[in-house]
Amino acid sequence: MAEIAVVGTGYVGLTTGTCFSRLGHRVVCFDNDAAKVEGLRDGHVPIVEAGLDELVTQGLEDGLLRFSTETKDGVASADFVFLCLPTPDLPNGSVDMSYVDAVAKQIGPWLRPGTVVVNKSTVPVGTTRHVAQLLGRDDVFVVSNPEFLREGNAVADFLNPSRVVVGGDDAGAVERVAKLYDGTNAPVITCDATTAETIKYAANAFLATKISFINSIANICEYLGADVRVVADAIGRDPRIGGQFLQPGPGFGGSCFPKDTIGLLRLAEDAGYDFGVLRSVIEANDQQLARTVAKVRDAVGGSLRGMAIAVWGLTFKANTDDRRHSPAVEVVRRLVAEGAQVTAFDPTVSGVVPELPSVGVAANAIEACRGAEALVVLTEWREFAIVPPASVREVMAGAAVVDARNLLDPGSWRSVGFVYQGVGFRPQ
Ligand code: UDX
Repeated sequence: MAEIAVVGTGYVGLTTGTCFSRLGHRVVCFDNDAAKVEGLRDGHVPIVEAGLDELVTQGLEDGLLRFSTETKDGVASADFVFLCLPTPDLPNGSVDMSYVDAVAKQIGPWLRPGTVVVNKSTVPVGTTRHVAQLLGRDDVFVVSNPEFLREGNAVADFLNPSRVVVGGDDAGAVERVAKLYDGTNAPVITCDATTAETIKYAANAFLATKISFINSIANICEYLGADVRVVADAIGRDPRIGGQFLQPGPGFGGSCFPKDTIGLLRLAEDAGYDFGVLRSVIEANDQQLARTVAKVRDAVGGSLRGMAIAVWGLTFKANTDDRRHSPAVEVVRRLVAEGAQVTAFDPTVSGVVPELPSVGVAANAIEACRGAEALVVLTEWREFAIVPPASVREVMAGAAVVDARNLLDPGSWRSVGFVYQGVGFRPQ
């Protein structure tokens, strides 16, 4: 059992701290948001993550997990300090390191000799050494231990990782961090810090590449009359390709892929390399958003001005409440910009959406469709797939459905008179 301090209780920090307590370590999680800490102490988990609520409650009951705003008292008694801090992208595409820098400077004097500081957030290559300099200590260690957690699946991804990556200049410190994951039985890859930081960017950039690739193949299929669903299944059976992340959609989003692809592109440019493939991935993603909007525009006759449009889904994907860089929000923003009157439903949204102030928010999927000329499915919440098409038909003014996630059953929707369009295959 180790004494672990986790600084930051966002999607990564809360999952990391809680899952480490599940593995038997004694964990204290810090956040400067006192109300959030208070809620966590009562077992109130402010994010949607399958299984997290139960593990927080378990950790609190076992006395292995606690929450505090007093970073100093926990850091000073920790063997490991995990930095799980926001590293948002700045308007110019670079990474905002202000949170990491501030905490590194703050905790430096408090650390016990021999403590290992662990960078968990996705950070620019070179951050491990940068943090070591800010700590101003030669008797502590810094390693990179990038997270590979998918939102909505983070607990499972943490406890059953396909691999653990730990990178650092001190082999002993690297080994100590690797041992924290003993309870997961995952293969551990140890390397230098730069390599570990690069692994994280390369992983996300490749996954984003797969998505832009299948979105492009889907668009070609629409021209050719081929069916991308069969193409994806057939190529995915080749173990060299793999069947996951071949689902076409409105484009990738979230707090990672958009930021990390641009971050890696800039990194390559700074290193003097023109990463053209990655630039095309980013361009293809923006084109996919535009293509989704164009499909809706065409479905209502060529102009969105004054058109009532129903939208199902605002989060960046299903099973999360996160709307950061959501393709759904971006598509809605563009629909509104062209004059559409949008009413949306998302199971995680109630009340006005701050980033979409003019968009109506319905209490349920069918209400969102009342009087609408077209319905657009932008997030693959399973509950959308079981809404009876006939009930939707009764309340809609128009008969157009643009299913940007290939979630709905085309036959069922067409059977009640809808003009259904998916992604990557032609309406029959
Ligand atoms: C991603 C990586 O998967 C994870 O390993 C990393 O640690 C953090 O970034 P996340 O951003 O939570 O995780 O979501 P992910 O499931 O990867 O989806 C990212 C975006 O790609 C979403 O907008 C999703 O809808 C989209 N996507 C994903 C597709 O459009 N098609 C797919 O087949 C898969």
